[in-house]
This record gives sequence, structure tokens and C-alpha cells, in this order.
Amino acid sequence: MEQWINPRVKEIQISGIRQFFNRVSAYPDAISLTLGLPDFPTPEHVKEAGKTAIDENKTTYTHNAGSIELRNAIGRFVKEKYNLDYETENEIIATSGASEAIDISLRTILVEGDEVILPGPVYPGYEPVIRLCGAKPVHVDTRETEFKLTASLIEKNMTDRTKCVILPYPSNPTGMTLSHDERKEIAHLLKDTNVFVLSDEIYSELTYDQAHQSIATYEGMREKTIVINGLSKSHSMTGWRIGFLLGDADITQHILKVHQYNVTCVSSITQSAAVEALTNGKDDAKPMREIYEQRLGYTYSRLQDMGLGIHKPGGAFYLFPSIKKYGMKSWDFATQLLEEEKLAVVPGIAFSDYGDDYIRISYAYHQDQLKEGLDRLERFLNRLEK
Ligand SMILES: Cc1ncc(COP(=O)(O)O)c(C=O)c1O
Repeated sequence: MEQWINPRVKEIQISGIRQFFNRVSAYPDAISLTLGLPDFPTPEHVKEAGKTAIDENKTTYTHNAGSIELRNAIGRFVKEKYNLDYETENEIIATSGASEAIDISLRTILVEGDEVILPGPVYPGYEPVIRLCGAKPVHVDTRETEFKLTASLIEKNMTDRTKCVILPYPSNPTGMTLSHDERKEIAHLLKDTNVFVLSDEIYSELTYDQAHQSIATYEGMREKTIVINGLSKSHSMTGWRIGFLLGDADITQHILKVHQYNVTCVSSITQSAAVEALTNGKDDAKPMREIYEQRLGYTYSRLQDMGLGIHKPGGAFYLFPSIKKYGMKSWDFATQLLEEEKLAVVPGIAFSDYGDDYIRISYAYHQDQLKEGLDRLERFLNRLEK
């Protein structure tokens, strides 16, 4: 029956991150610096709220967009943290992770033949959805702009088919974020066009040198921007599957239909835990961020000492050093590193062709594991250089 499967589905692949991670399981003594998930447990009070929800039988369907309590909590959180104003009633949708928010947003706006501009290298969660819609991903080479999708790069790649620009910052896999001037220029370019902006701000609570500011706060941008965010990274809740999206009611009323027929609503137990996280735990990311920042300093200087070309990230928990000087493709480099030194990192090709001269190192790992992993990398590089 396989021949009858939708050809667009047949063409997409399991992400390179997962493919590589699955290979790592064949090396039980390997150290992994691959995954983008916090190594801290979900805060205790948030877990308690989930348990209480079960005990109190809060185990039924909720409103499709999420309970009123949750949407109020999201609205208050984004107002206080990022000065974003969205109506509980019709401009906030709780989703099953940021992943679902990305999926339903793109499926709501894209039709066959549309073009979507996105940076390269980039998180691999967008391209397959774009392709499933019959639209075309237009990856823009950001290697010369410190991995930033700038206004001038967007302008050069815009055509009359451009429907959407995806703006993920701080970025996975590079950790780079956008400055006020860079955001302003993008807003200036796009505000009077018919182009949507999908602003993936899932790492907004994990910025190091400047506070996060959403592109939706710039003049003329609220009407056209769908803000994606969630609690996976900020509250170490990856397994709870909780994200949210914010948008003008003109857009969200349509996204809500796609969401309804997709998941009906987010798990009610998760929703109760998320209310606690966004209210009593609104600053839960802070102690984690402080630890990530120390690890960033350590990992960055170790990689610099190893002589790897690298930009200092402004957020998230990834570093994206260049391996170009070794003349190896990233998949071969990562495979050899795994086989010889039992260290797993993600080959940059997992983040589009523009990532093939790089590897992604996640520092969402304990300091001891980071040190051991970096020692192994150093040994490996010393051998390559001989
Ligand atoms: C940029 C980016 N967006 C979205 C996601 C998906 O987040 P979630 O686990 O909440 O679906 C990730 C996960 O790594 C990510 O890095």
C-alpha cells in the first residue's frame, strides 16, 4: 500500500537531530551533548499542581484554546515579561508544545506555491510542515551575518509569492539573537507588506546579554505576526507538551479551527501545571538561566581555546562552532567523533545545507558531563590536526 501514501509525506524525513540521537543509543558509554532539553527537573510546585489536577478530577476537555485560567495566565505573563497585549477571549491559544503551534499556524496560512523565507542554518521543525502544505521553503544563507536573518537578506529573497518569514530568535542551533536595530529594520521592511511573520520565541526566557523583545511589539507588526512560545525550555517542561501562540483575532480565529481538529485541547492536567508555572513560577527560568550562562562561558572559552571559529550566542543553550578547517562534512565528523571518542554532538547538516560546516553542541548538560565531553572533543581535534 505504500505507493498510495501522500507523496509529500513520503518525501519528508525524520529530523537529523533524532536520526543522529538514535545512532548514539548504540554506544552506551557515549557522552551526549546533543539534545535541546533542559537537564533540570520541572520545578516541584509545578509538578504538584499537575498532581493536584488529577486528584481534583480536572481531567476533562477544556475550551479548545485552553482554560480561561490558563489563557489569562499566558496573557499576564507575556504582558509583564515582554509588554505584549493579547485578549484572553480570542487571541491566545494553548498548544501541544511549540511544535503544534508552528504546525497549525503554517497550515492556516500556507497554500500551494507559497514561499516561506527562513534562516539557514535553522531548527528543523519548520521545513517539513511547509512542504506538507505544498509551499516552498526558501532558506537564506546567514553564515556571513553571524547567523542572523537580517532585513537586507529578507528583502533580497522576497518575491511576489512570499507568504511568510520565519524569525526564530534566540536561535536553535546557533544561539544568536537579534538586536533592537536589527528587529526594527525587519519591522520597517515588512510592516506594509502582505507577509506574515512567524516569530518563534521559545527561548525568550533564556537570553544572556539583553532582555528579549518580541518583533510583535514593533509598529505595524502585531497585525501580521504570530508569536510562538511555550514552557518546554523556560520551565523544563518538554514532556508535558505545552506551548502557546499569540496573534491578532483575525488570524487566531482561523488557527483555532485547525487546532480543534488536530488535538481538541492541550491535556487538562498539563494546563493546570502551566497555570502554576506562569503565575507562581513566572521567574522559574532565572536560576536555570544563571547556570546556563556559567556553562556558556566555560564551553565558549574551551571551544575558542581549541581554535574553532565560533560566534558568542546571546541566548538558548547551544553553541555552533565551525569545523570547516578539517575539510570534513558534518555528518562524517560527528560519526567519527562518536566512534573514536564516544562523544555525540549534532552534525550541522541537520539544520539545512548551510549548517554542514558546523556542529551543534548543547550545554544543557551537567558541568561534569560538559567537561568530559569537551576533553574528548579536544583529544579528537588534536588527532585530526596531526
Ligand atoms: C526553535 C524551536 N522551536 C520549537 C521547538 C519545539 O518546542 P516544543 O518542545 O515546545 O514543541 C524547539 C525545540 O527544540 C525549538 O528549538
